[in-house]
Amino acid sequence: MKVVVAGTGYVGLITGVVLAYIGNKVVCIDVDQEKIKLLRQGKSSIYEKDLDKYLLLAKDNLTFTTDNSCYKDSDVIIIGVGTPERQDGSANLDYVYDVCNNIIKYANKDMVVVIKSTVPIGTNDEVEKYLSSKRKDIKLTVVSNPEFLSQGSAIHDTLYASRIIVGAVDDNAFKVMRELYEPLLKEPYNVPYLEMNRRSAEMVKYASNDFLALKISYINEIANLCNKVGANIDEVTKGMSYDKRIGSLFLKPGIGYGGSCFPKDTKALHWLSKINDCELTLVKACIEINKKQKLILFNKLREDFNYSLKGKKITILGLTFKPMTDDLREAPSLVNIDMLLDYDADITVYDPIALDKVKKIYNNKIKYANTIDEAIKNSDAVLIMTEWAEIKNYNIDNYTKYMKYANIYDGRNCYDPVIMKNKGINYYSIGR
Ligand code: UDX
Repeated sequence: MKVVVAGTGYVGLITGVVLAYIGNKVVCIDVDQEKIKLLRQGKSSIYEKDLDKYLLLAKDNLTFTTDNSCYKDSDVIIIGVGTPERQDGSANLDYVYDVCNNIIKYANKDMVVVIKSTVPIGTNDEVEKYLSSKRKDIKLTVVSNPEFLSQGSAIHDTLYASRIIVGAVDDNAFKVMRELYEPLLKEPYNVPYLEMNRRSAEMVKYASNDFLALKISYINEIANLCNKVGANIDEVTKGMSYDKRIGSLFLKPGIGYGGSCFPKDTKALHWLSKINDCELTLVKACIEINKKQKLILFNKLREDFNYSLKGKKITILGLTFKPMTDDLREAPSLVNIDMLLDYDADITVYDPIALDKVKKIYNNKIKYANTIDEAIKNSDAVLIMTEWAEIKNYNIDNYTKYMKYANIYDGRNCYDPVIMKNKGINYYSIGR
């Protein structure tokens, strides 16, 4: 099948690579010339496990372009462009419509237009109306096909997807989509395949992401209460997880969720519920809890230092919103750096891969270290923001060896509190 994928961000690029790998002829298009130049050299513009390998494996079926005439003659067009959050929390669909306008210009036969970007309920209907109003001579059928990949395991999550959701209103569109994904429905992938109406498909994405965000916020609140009442969240979540209805996943307490999806999708669904006069108060609470949770370490640090952080050397270990990605979107580290700057702290940061990106944001307002040892030297306190393996496996004796005062505020529960205490480290973690 001839497939065009619009957008070479996480969703678009991974989708394009995987669809090419399973045998489709795929063209990935992006407006960003630099990204396309890199991809043509087989280099990915994003940091993602196995992506380089699969770019190579799929190379005979995969091309990259910035030329919109690529939409000509395609069977399926997949829209995987960003839908960033507007000020009011709603999703900005400008990029989706930019792609539509190019499809309108270049489509020369009936085509299936798949929306993979996360879009508010009803968008697929609207887009189809728009496309057919502009091109009455051909049939441009819109299909909702949301993506559930996680950064850091995106290729695996697409090949061995938890499910493929296809929302359509047209029998031929269902047929084309089944053909597109056929190889993934068989051994060794055996991906469950669900067909439904377009609005349900759009809702599956929001309802799933927001449910996971709720789970995290719930456990963060329980963890905070554990701290107050002398319970240990590790023991509590272990005890909870034996109930199969609860499970053990997404019950890891921390300093709040970040990334490109949960923050944006909770706000978008909340916005949608409000304008439909059916406010999702649970989602609203989740957004507020997460905002507060991101500052839980900072507030404790501020209290411990009697609200005076001026000139104190504070080190932040881990900057990305989670390990195995270089993504800083909505990362708790950034809010903490901003607060520490407001308090005139002397800030040093370390991250195994995101230092260059952070430098572009803060320039010489903060200091950058190339190793953990260097970062913590003479430090008054360390804040751990990302549970990189390198940080979890760090020799904890070095904290007492290198720091001025061994005060560790761990937002990702990387170490055993008993061991830390025995080493003479002043250790604060989440819910333990
Ligand atoms: C998420 C969803 O998992 C994925 O299905 C969807 O398609 C996109 O959004 P991603 O943003 O890549 O994926 O990361 P994820 O691993 O879900 O983590 C999101 C945030 O939640 C991170 O900041 C992580 O640290 C935090 N988190 C996750 C917790 O604090 N506790 C947990 O138990 C799990």
